[in-house]
Amino acid sequence: MRKKIVAGNWKMNKNLQEGIQLAVALNEVLSKENNSCRVIIGTPFIHLASVSERIDKKKLGLAAQNCADHVSGAYTGEVSAEMVKSTGAEYVILGHSERRTYYGETPEMLKTKVRLALDQQLQPIFCIGEVLSEREAGKQFEVVRSQIEASLFDLSEADFSKIILAYEPVWAIGTGKTATAAQAQEMHAFIRGLIAGKYGKKAADDCSILYGGSCKASNAAELFANPDVDGGLIGGASLTVEDFMGIVRAR
Ligand code: 13P
Repeated sequence: MRKKIVAGNWKMNKNLQEGIQLAVALNEVLSKENNSCRVIIGTPFIHLASVSERIDKKKLGLAAQNCADHVSGAYTGEVSAEMVKSTGAEYVILGHSERRTYYGETPEMLKTKVRLALDQQLQPIFCIGEVLSEREAGKQFEVVRSQIEASLFDLSEADFSKIILAYEPVWAIGTGKTATAAQAQEMHAFIRGLIAGKYGKKAADDCSILYGGSCKASNAAELFANPDVDGGLIGGASLTVEDFMGIVRAR
């Protein structure tokens, strides 16, 4: 059966020293608790190697926030999936709306990134979600369907089983405007139905689908109570031990 997961996406926050401090502090708290979910942090690239050496990966998983769409070579400033893997990270967040919007990541590029990540045994946390105008036009299901189909549905069933999905309605990211529990459940059930249609019921039942967008300790329990919401991908509230653990404990 699918895993319950709470993953933090630090985005472009914390210098190296601050990041190490937060990771170590989280690891310490988690090592004293028995939490029912897998906890992951997604740090900037520069933190990965240092954090990796200091945490117990059984208690705290480590993710990058991106990887390159090429294997290696003359791509100044890029970081390959193999490099990410060599730090000790096990996961990579791909297709975040900020990468799609600000850095022009296309479904085709993301399909390549997913392939390269899987080739390195990195587990993608693949983000999908509609913008406000798309929801207002009633197009959210169409948008999410095409994001999933374009980047993921060429995968074999075995490869798809490694994908963690994160539904992040763009209008809820960093805005304080969370999707209602009903909106989240409706979309997550839709996504699970899509997976069932493509890969069968078992694949759909086994896929963890996280919710992201202004999720915090005060609203996490209500969101996570939905049968198809398997956890969260957390931005702002992943930046302190107290806020993040409040969400982990709600799962
Ligand atoms: P916030 O939790 O800050 O809204 O960000 C969500 C997010 O984008 C996680 O990837």
